[in-house]
Amino acid sequence: MKLFDVYPLMPVTITKAAGAKLWDDQGQEYLDLYGGHAVISIGHTHPHFVKRIKEQLDQIAFYSNSVQIPIQKEFAAKLAELSCLHEYQLFLCNSGAEANENAMKMASFATNKPGFISYSGAFHGRTSGAVALTDNPKIIAPCNAREDFHILPWEDLKATEEILKERNIAGIIIEGIQGVGGIQVPSSVFLQGISALAKKYEAKLILDEVQSGYGRTGRFFAHQWVEGIMPDLISMAKGMGNGFPIGGILISPQFKSAYGMLGTTFGGNHLACAAGLAVLEVLESEKLISQATDLGSRLMDELKEIPGVTDVRGLGLMIGIDLDREAGPVRTELVQKYHIFTGSAAGKNTIRLLPPLNIEWNQLNSFIVALKEILS
Ligand SMILES: Cc1ncc(COP(=O)(O)O)c(C=O)c1O
Repeated sequence: MKLFDVYPLMPVTITKAAGAKLWDDQGQEYLDLYGGHAVISIGHTHPHFVKRIKEQLDQIAFYSNSVQIPIQKEFAAKLAELSCLHEYQLFLCNSGAEANENAMKMASFATNKPGFISYSGAFHGRTSGAVALTDNPKIIAPCNAREDFHILPWEDLKATEEILKERNIAGIIIEGIQGVGGIQVPSSVFLQGISALAKKYEAKLILDEVQSGYGRTGRFFAHQWVEGIMPDLISMAKGMGNGFPIGGILISPQFKSAYGMLGTTFGGNHLACAAGLAVLEVLESEKLISQATDLGSRLMDELKEIPGVTDVRGLGLMIGIDLDREAGPVRTELVQKYHIFTGSAAGKNTIRLLPPLNIEWNQLNSFIVALKEILS
């Protein structure tokens, strides 16, 4: 059987990984500054992560949400502690798109309205509602198109208010920091503005922290850098399981639950919760969130000095680098000659860095040296 050919693949077969290092089937070592697309938070094959999952596997891997699953409560307690969002409620699912879909559903249930607002450059996933708010017409199938969904210009508070005034809008969704869009950090004024507008027009504010959450930016969630933002709903996935599929939404206390309102077969299974707990425990014990700020600031300062780099954006270890040339050939040289993986973004000239949070400075420095050589 042939695989459905939807991914342009690099000619590399990765067979082993540890921390920020990868090895291919020829034994060649690589440096992972892409984190498998922001997924690897605590480092590949972290010993505590491996141990926790193995121990859980020996007990029970899965049972459905029809029975008590105490590890879900243990996970929720640890998440509250690290995120400092003690009053929020947790619903567990399996991926980022599913998290956003459930967040949208909650906003729509609560307001009894059908419409949503997102912003240019947004990526919210590929499921029906999430993809209709994603700014990429190529991945929106005719069955996904929604009249009530509005993708507005980035940072445009005036356009936001006009649509809120004229249409039946259940919610505004925005990434903590736009990832696929090229590491665009929303200004405090914009985030505070849409938060106030959502309140004024009785719409819900959904923070998509699928990529920017879980400590990557130096706060547990990226929006926590901005004063006064308490989203109604927060979606998360990627870094949550360090590669084990797990997603979730945080639901503010105003929302009341009802049996059957949300549901999933696999969400919150024992194995996923063990993986998720291991991630939170390592983030805490190894102080990886504050380390993301320290390493990220130092890296950004050095990157800004490299001739050929025209802009450096981001927070913590979620970094976008604009070049004075197309990024594609530079990224290819980084892999082929220097054995360093990086990420792309919507902008042709942008390189995206999303390394494991336990990366070491000397590893980041080897990227600086390689980039300088390539751009010289
Ligand atoms: C901000 C954001 N939201 C949602 C998603 C979708 O997540 P998933 O691929 O797990 O469905 C992504 C994936 O890249 C993302 O970056």
